[in-house]
Amino acid sequence: MDWGLQHRLSRIFKPDTGKTVMLAIDHGYFLGPTGGLEVPGKTIEPLLPFADSLMLTRGILRSSVPPETNIPIVLRMSGGNSILTDDLSNEEITVGIEDAIRLNASAITSSIFVGTPHEHETIMGLADLVDHGQAFGLPVLAVTAVGREMKRDAKYLSLCCRIAAEMGAHFVKTYFVEDFEKIVGSCPVPIVIAGGKKLPEKDALQMAYDAISRGASGVDMGRNIFQSDNPVGMIQAVRAVVHKGASVDDAYDIYKTVK
Ligand code: 5RP
Repeated sequence: MDWGLQHRLSRIFKPDTGKTVMLAIDHGYFLGPTGGLEVPGKTIEPLLPFADSLMLTRGILRSSVPPETNIPIVLRMSGGNSILTDDLSNEEITVGIEDAIRLNASAITSSIFVGTPHEHETIMGLADLVDHGQAFGLPVLAVTAVGREMKRDAKYLSLCCRIAAEMGAHFVKTYFVEDFEKIVGSCPVPIVIAGGKKLPEKDALQMAYDAISRGASGVDMGRNIFQSDNPVGMIQAVRAVVHKGASVDDAYDIYKTVK
């Protein structure tokens, strides 16, 4: 057993439930100062007590998260593009493994862009990351299907998630879609779901509930938390769904009442 790697994973996936509520705030690496993350430190400060980990770039980690914060870091290691390009798949690894260790990351992450012009490079980037991660006991999260024109259905996402797992990713992030259980059933490592574009709060909670009921091991949610009119209530509502199996109605009550 790789004690260090398992230890880091157990900081992200809570041992009592085996699940996780990750807070994703890495959007700026290609979107710039997107809504709700104009001043990331201010946005995340009240949310940190309720997140099981924080997914972000090293720039925002260094500038916006106090070093004494006791939260596992999932460090985005890929980038090199902006929303202004027609081809978001042209990503490479942007962070060295030494810096990930220096920053005390609990896991490292990169995106793969299956079926795009840079499919090969991004899958090879993930494989390199897994090699580097293995050498130092750092688990790797593979992010699938980011982009505007991605066809997000179970067939495509099963392909992406399975390829990520075959490359050695320790967990995979994808989207919740119809027939989600088929994606989970053919992916040998845990899956967490992204939230995607901002939805009405009850719909986002329903999505989290459906994903967990169909086998997701957690969420890695961004906009549906930090763009909510009550982010602190929303993250606690999501936690109730993920860790306590709360119903959508009960979770929605938490969103409405907790400030
Ligand atoms: C972007 C990402 C984001 O972290 C991901 O999209 C999650 O955020 P959201 O819930 O807002 O979709 O990996 O590349």
